Amino acid sequence: MNAQQIDQQTLLKDEKDPLTHTPVHLLSLENVGKHYGNIIALRDVTMAVDNGRVTCVLGDNGAGKSTLIKIIAGLHQHDEGTLHVMGDARKFSSPREALDAGIATVYQDLAVVPLMPIWRNFFLGSELTSGFGPFKSMDVQKMKDITKKELADMGIDLRDVEQPIGQLSGGERQCVAIARAVYFGAKVLILDEPTAALGVKQSGVVLRYILQARDRGLGVIFITHNPHHAFPVGDRFLLLKRGKSIGYYDKKDITLDELTAQMAGGAELAELAHELEQLGGHSDALEEVKAEVAGVADAAPESPSKKH
Ligand SMILES: Nc1ncnc2c1ncn2[C@@H]1O[C@H](COP(=O)(O)OP(=O)(O)OP(=O)(O)O)[C@@H](O)[C@H]1O
Ligand SMILES: [Mg+2]
Repeated sequence: MNAQQIDQQTLLKDEKDPLTHTPVHLLSLENVGKHYGNIIALRDVTMAVDNGRVTCVLGDNGAGKSTLIKIIAGLHQHDEGTLHVMGDARKFSSPREALDAGIATVYQDLAVVPLMPIWRNFFLGSELTSGFGPFKSMDVQKMKDITKKELADMGIDLRDVEQPIGQLSGGERQCVAIARAVYFGAKVLILDEPTAALGVKQSGVVLRYILQARDRGLGVIFITHNPHHAFPVGDRFLLLKRGKSIGYYDKKDITLDELTAQMAGGAELAELAHELEQLGGHSDALEEVKAEVAGVADAAPESPSKKH
């Protein structure tokens, strides 16, 4: 099977949001570009995010993944193209503005206070209070109850919300951050490489909560460089390389092998094999790379083509 790219020309006009059945996407980017001085970090990127769908952004180091999400999250501004949020063209000047528009971002190095209990971290900056004026106080019991309930609703089974969050594993902390974003009403949830530092089992746990967030109707943007993590949970895949889109696929139009082949880049692997050979020897590593080149050649999808 040859992978058929989503046609970027018709994407934003004809495709319908699966929940609202209108052509208005929760969030969409059209030909977005960004440069830092004379470094072009991002160029001509087009993608859409919908309710109840997971859009994966894949790419190697320096591909522009973080730049892309920083634009959506309000940390940086694009200098080309347009960003639409629910039909309105937006250019956020702060993360607060993006958050107010319903866009929540979970960064890999989560901003948590390790020694504070889970429930305090859950409500950090948005504490519940009861009473008025001088009698105002934190509603501790209510915050604990809500934290417990929200985590349980997401299927997160934590022993005790009094536990310092620093005692949780990286995966569990990611899950708490996802549950928090869901509770505070995020419409778009951005996850920047949530599985990068995790082992196989913990990655699986985080992937499960990505699906939970999707099932609650959020539009999820999942950044990763691992096609094996992206493929099982993703509905759409945007592949970035050196700041440019090298493909944008719907799940039904691409297989895991093809996605992996696209990510690996057949030509670059062949070059690596050649280099290793030059360096002398027929090591196991060389044989491995050669086998991979063969695999990539077999699975390589058709080169990107645009319909008009
Ligand atoms: N603040 C900045 N100033 C100058 N150049 C930058 C800045 N941020 C990113 N870049 C450059 O833009 C390009 C894209 O970087 P970006 O961080 O978006 O990549 P990435 O895909 O997130 O990579 P990684 O997987 O390593 O996190 C890189 O060449 C990077 O050096
Ligand atoms: Mg990055």
